Formats: sequence, structure tokens, C-alpha cells
Amino acid sequence: MKIGILKDTAPRERRVALTPDAVARLVKRDLEVVVEQGAGVSAFFADAAYEAAGATVVESAAAGDADLVACVRRPGPDRAGTLRQGSVLLALVGNDGADALEALNRQKVSVLALELVPRITRAQSMDVLSSQATVAGYQAVLLGAHHLPRFLPMLTTAAGSIQPARALVLGAGVAGLQAIATARRLGAIVSGFDVRAAAAEQVESLGARFIAPEALSQDAETAGGYAKELADDQQRRVLEAVAGAIHQSDLVISTAAIPNRPAPRLITREMVEGMKAGAVIIDVSAETGGNCELTRAGETVVHGEVTVVGPLNLPSTMPQHASQMFGRNVQTLIEHLCPEGNLVLDLEDEITGAMCVAHDGAQRQRGTS
Ligand code: NAI
Repeated sequence: MKIGILKDTAPRERRVALTPDAVARLVKRDLEVVVEQGAGVSAFFADAAYEAAGATVVESAAAGDADLVACVRRPGPDRAGTLRQGSVLLALVGNDGADALEALNRQKVSVLALELVPRITRAQSMDVLSSQATVAGYQAVLLGAHHLPRFLPMLTTAAGSIQPARALVLGAGVAGLQAIATARRLGAIVSGFDVRAAAAEQVESLGARFIAPEALSQDAETAGGYAKELADDQQRRVLEAVAGAIHQSDLVISTAAIPNRPAPRLITREMVEGMKAGAVIIDVSAETGGNCELTRAGETVVHGEVTVVGPLNLPSTMPQHASQMFGRNVQTLIEHLCPEGNLVLDLEDEITGAMCVAHDGAQRQRGTS
């Protein structure tokens, strides 16, 4: 059983799907690993480190000639054409429409979308959305600290006392909770908000204040643990709650998301105009439309005296640890797919079936949760 690791070439993508550490674990299980030359270089994993872990470094064309191929993002049509007929691909697939899988279907590649790992305890260690959201939440706070014209912590110095900054985190999923923890570690006074009732306890356990409980409804959570889109009256109450907290905040990290939907709008232009001079918004949801009306994906907008940052692919800005976590998720998934050392693509399996978006030349229906 041969595993190929491709070099990711998408703009701004610096991560690699398997790191030498994960490769060593796979090699120990008698799996053969080939890695495309330079695949890990942008994440600071040299070819020599892969060789030391037991992989063979190969030229670009040879890396796709494997039973199972792993990369961070789905390869484009040219690259898809070089994959072995009937092989299995593990990658983030995205929502680019039906055509995106055409080239892979021509090769009869079975595609397992890494973003579709089901939200069950057994699959937690395979969940790249969670691991990468952890990185995004952490990086968002550091990016905010970089843009802020003031300290986050309280300081008592010979040059006077500095009051701690107030940070507000919107959306308390994996990224939001990590942002809360990071802002707390940096000494800010932190508040958090989410529409899922279960988030209140998690926010408070990190030492942050949970705001606007009156806007919550048990209905806001699906059986799969995600948030739903809100009815108009709930959305209005959410906006009121956010408006009540935002004008006191120095740093706002917004991470609110609804799977397969545009990001919910939580910060209006009017709210930004009521914020403190020098305040900063880091809109982690920029790629899916943004939580703030003024966000522009990939840009930093200065509106009056407020800076609104719309970062793209935050995990890739910290590629070494992001890849290490991503790689551990992918390694665990490969072990799940190869229980006896041979690849078994069991579409009846709860994890494999939920992730498989293309098989035997045809697209498969995505599950909903
Ligand atoms: P996500 O990335 O889909 O969304 C981020 C957050 O935005 C969520 O907490 C969501 O409730 C919130 N949100 C949506 N609309 C909002 C609005 N209008 N206002 C404020 N907040 C809004 O969520 P993520 O990070 O994937 O986590 C969701 C839940 O699933 C968490 O409880 C997490 O711990 C859990 N989870 C469980 C896993 C497992 O059991 N394997 C794996 C990953 C997460």
C-alpha cells in the first residue's frame, strides 16, 4: 500500500498534508510513503526530514502514482489527471461546484473531503476543521494585537499604568474559544458570544464573560452541533446584543459561521462607526462573506478610526504547527482506512461514507448534519 504526498501549489497555501512525524508513524505500520520534492518546504519540513522518517522523495509526476494521495487542497484538473486510476484522494475539496470533481472522476479517483469528517467523538482526531480552527483563533488574536495601537494586558510601569484592552469574540466554536483563551493569556478582558446555548459554559470556563443570554434559543443548534441560520426576530436580538458590547471593545475577533451558508452578518457599518478610536476587528469569517458589513476578504480596510481586517487562510500563516496538526489528523484517518495495512474503502462506514464525495467516476451526494 503506497501513500503519496503532493506539494500544495494554491496561492497562499504553505501547509503540507503529512509531516515527517506523521510519516514515521505510517512507515512503522509497514505503509510505503513517497513525497513530492519540496512538499514540506514552505512549512519548514525539508525533504531530508521526510527521508529520515522513512519516505522516498520523488519528482512531481511520481508522487501521484500511489494507492492513496494526500494534499491540503484538492488538486486542479492538470494535477488530477496525473493521479493513479482508481486511487483515493484525501484533501479539502471546497464548494466550487460540480465541475471541480470532473477531472478526478475521469480518473475514477475516490475523493474523501477532509472538511466532511463527521462530528462524532470517534472522528475527533481526524477533524482538520477543528485543528485548523484552533490555529486560526490563535493567529487572529496575534494579528489583532499587531494592528492595535495599544497593549492588551494591564501594565504598571514607571511611565504610568496601562489599562487592559477589552476583547470581544463573536462565535464561540473551536476558533472562537481558542481566540478567547489566547486573548486571556495576553491579558485582555474578554467577552464572548454565540447563539448556541452550550457555548455559554465553555466561554465562562475560559474566564470570559458570556454576553446576551436573552438572545439565545435552544433551536439555534442542529443535531450535528452546528449553528442554524436564525429567524428574523432572533437575528435582530443578536444584533442588539452585539451592538451593546461592541462600542466598549478595543479588539473584536469574529468567527461566527454556519456550515455551507454565507457567514452571518453581526457587525453593521453603524456599529463600526460607534466603536472606539483605534479599535480593530479581525473577521475570521472573511472567506465566507464576513461577519462585518465592511469586511473585504484579503484586505485591511480603515473606516474612520477603526481597522477591519479580512484575513484569508489564517492557518497557513502558521504553517509548521498547522501542518503538524493537519498531518496528525490525516495520519489517523489513513490508519482508519487501512486497518490491516491495506486500503479498505467501506462506503457503509460512518466516517468514510460521510466524507466520500466522488467514487468510481461519479459524484456522491454530500450528507447534511
Ligand atoms: P463553526 O465554525 O461552524 O461556527 C463557529 C461558531 O459560530 C459556532 O460556535 C456557531 O454556533 C457560531 N455562530 C453561528 N451563527 C452565529 C451567530 N449568528 N451569532 C453568533 N455566533 C454564531 O463551528 P465549530 O467551530 O465547528 O464548532 C461548533 C461546535 O461543534 C462546537 O461546540 C464544537 O466544540 C463542536 N465540535 C465537535 C466536534 C466533534 O465532536 N468531533 C468537532 C468540532 C467541533
